[in-house]
Amino acid sequence: MREDEIASWVSDAHAAFAAAADLDTLKIARLTHSGDKSPIALASRGLGALPADEKMQYGKLIGDAKASIASSLADATSVLEAERDMKVLLEEILDVTLASNRSHRGGLHPISIMKNEISDFFIEQGYSVQEGPEMESGWLNFDALNIPPDHPARTMQDTFFLEPIESGIVLRTQTSPVQIRTMLTSSPPIYIISPGRTFRADGLDATHSPVFHQVEGLVVDRGITMAHLKGTLDNFAQAMFGPDVTTRLRPSFFPFTEPSAEVDIYFNNRWIEWGGCGMVNPKVLQTCGIDTEIFSGFAFGMGIERTLMVRHGITDMHDIVEGDLRFTRQFGVGL
Ligand code: DAH
Repeated sequence: MREDEIASWVSDAHAAFAAAADLDTLKIARLTHSGDKSPIALASRGLGALPADEKMQYGKLIGDAKASIASSLADATSVLEAERDMKVLLEEILDVTLASNRSHRGGLHPISIMKNEISDFFIEQGYSVQEGPEMESGWLNFDALNIPPDHPARTMQDTFFLEPIESGIVLRTQTSPVQIRTMLTSSPPIYIISPGRTFRADGLDATHSPVFHQVEGLVVDRGITMAHLKGTLDNFAQAMFGPDVTTRLRPSFFPFTEPSAEVDIYFNNRWIEWGGCGMVNPKVLQTCGIDTEIFSGFAFGMGIERTLMVRHGITDMHDIVEGDLRFTRQFGVGL
C-alpha cells in the first residue's frame, strides 16, 4: 500500500463524483469509489494484517481519504438532488396566463330560454302549461277552431299534410288546437298557456321559418271580458319587453275569436305587431261542450321567434335557426 495510491483513489473518486450528471450515474460512481469492493474499502479491511506502526500510519491516511471521499460524495449528492428538484418544479409549473381550452358545458337555445321565461310568468299567476302533439288532426287544427274547409290556411301552400292524405293528419300550423284539446278534456275555470313548435310550408328567409314556435293563451271562466284580456296582455308585454311598454288592440279577424284583435306593442319608439287575440268565439266553446250562458273566455297567440327578434333587435331569422354558438351564447345558457 502506497501513499500516492491512496491519494489517487481519492482524486479518482472526486473526479467521478464531479463528472456524474445525474443521481443514477452518481450511484454507480459511489459503488465504484466508496462501495464494499472499492480500493479504499479493501485497503481499509486489509489494515488489520499490517504491522502496528504501519497500521497507525495507514489507518490515519485511509481514515482521512474515506472522510474526503464521503464529503465529496455528499457535495455531489446535494448538487444533483437540488438539480432534480428544480427540474421537477419546472416540469410541473402551471402557466395560469395561458389561453385555456375549457369546453362549453352546453346550454339552452334562446327560444327555449324564452319559452321557459313565458311559462314561469304565467305559472306564477296560476296558469298551467299544456302541450299538444306536433302531428295534429285536421279537425282540431282547423274545424273545431271554426276554420272552414275552404279557408286559405288549409291549402297545400300553408300546411304540411302527412301521408296518407286521407288520414287528415297535419303538422299543426298553430298552437290553437291545444285550446280545443284542453276544453274537451277539462271544464272551466280554465287558465292555460301552450308554448310549442308549429309548422308552415314557408321557405326560410329573414323573417320566416317553416318550423317556428308560438305561445297560446286561453282563459275560460265566469264573466271573462275583453278588459281581462287587455290587462293580461299588458302584464305579459311588460314581462317580456320591460315596464315601459304599452299595448294596443286593433280590430282584426280570426275564425276562433269574436271579436278579434291584433295586439301591438309600443317598443323602441314605434308600434310593432306582436300577436293575435280575442274573445273565444261562442261557436268554439259550444263545439267543446261549454255552456256559453255561463262561461266566456279570451285567447291569444304570439310567435316566440318574433318576440325574441323584437326584444333583442334580431333582424335575421337565420341567426335563430342555425345554432351558431357565437349567436346563442349572447343569451346565456339558461340553466
Ligand atoms: N293561431 C293564430 C295564428 O297562428 C294566432 C292567434 C290569434 C291565436 C288569435 C289566438 C287568438 O289564440 O285568439 O296566427
